[in-house]
Amino acid sequence: MEPVNAAIIYYSATGTVHALAQAAAEGAEKAGAHVRLRKVAETAPPEAIEANAAWGEHVRATADVVQATHDDLEWADVVLFGTPTRFGNPASQLRAFIDTSGPLWFAGKLAGKVYSAFTASNTTHGGQESTILALANTFYHWGGIIVPPGYTDPVQFKTGTPYGTSHVAGEGKPGENTLAAARYQARHAVDVAAALKAGRAAG
Ligand SMILES: Cc1cc2nc3c(=O)[nH]c(=O)nc-3n(C[C@H](O)[C@H](O)[C@H](O)COP(=O)(O)O)c2cc1C
Repeated sequence: MEPVNAAIIYYSATGTVHALAQAAAEGAEKAGAHVRLRKVAETAPPEAIEANAAWGEHVRATADVVQATHDDLEWADVVLFGTPTRFGNPASQLRAFIDTSGPLWFAGKLAGKVYSAFTASNTTHGGQESTILALANTFYHWGGIIVPPGYTDPVQFKTGTPYGTSHVAGEGKPGENTLAAARYQARHAVDVAAALKAGRAAG
């Protein structure tokens, strides 16, 4: 069978979600998928970015990460979206990318794929679940198959993040358990996508 195509599409200002996205890409690769790790376009003005040293540094450090396009969505059997929490919602940069997907949606090209999401916030109760659930609203419109990690692996009992991998950035960089959860989430989503792909190929 053809390998599963997995797109990890994320936005990150200061590197937290990027670290989760990299871990997700590792997990998807280990599960045998062809992987595209893609950042969405930055929409903030340069003066806003440079006013925050960590933001400017991260933009420069990830200059070589390829920017997400519609082709990545069309190509993928499974898409994992990563975003920081912004007032309990996905970042506008990720929304801006998603909001260009109308023509693909209208042509039915986003339906039947596996979708999953991960996030970071600064505080423990700062809106991680609402951010992931807000992204899921879009997956419903697309006719997607939403595959959260739930408690389907021992690592999930360590992190307690059934909606999707989430990290409290105010406590520092993602630790080994959180990165393992991101790897697992991607592996789980790829496994479900592989079963769907095999079933569809068998007719
Ligand atoms: C405009 C704005 C809104 C934010 N809203 C929240 C929020 O509602 N809850 C929270 O805990 N953190 C909030 N944060 C903090 C970010 O979620 C945090 O910096 C981010 O998850 C770090 O991820 P990154 O390093 O990938 O950018 C906000 C940050 C900004 C700039």
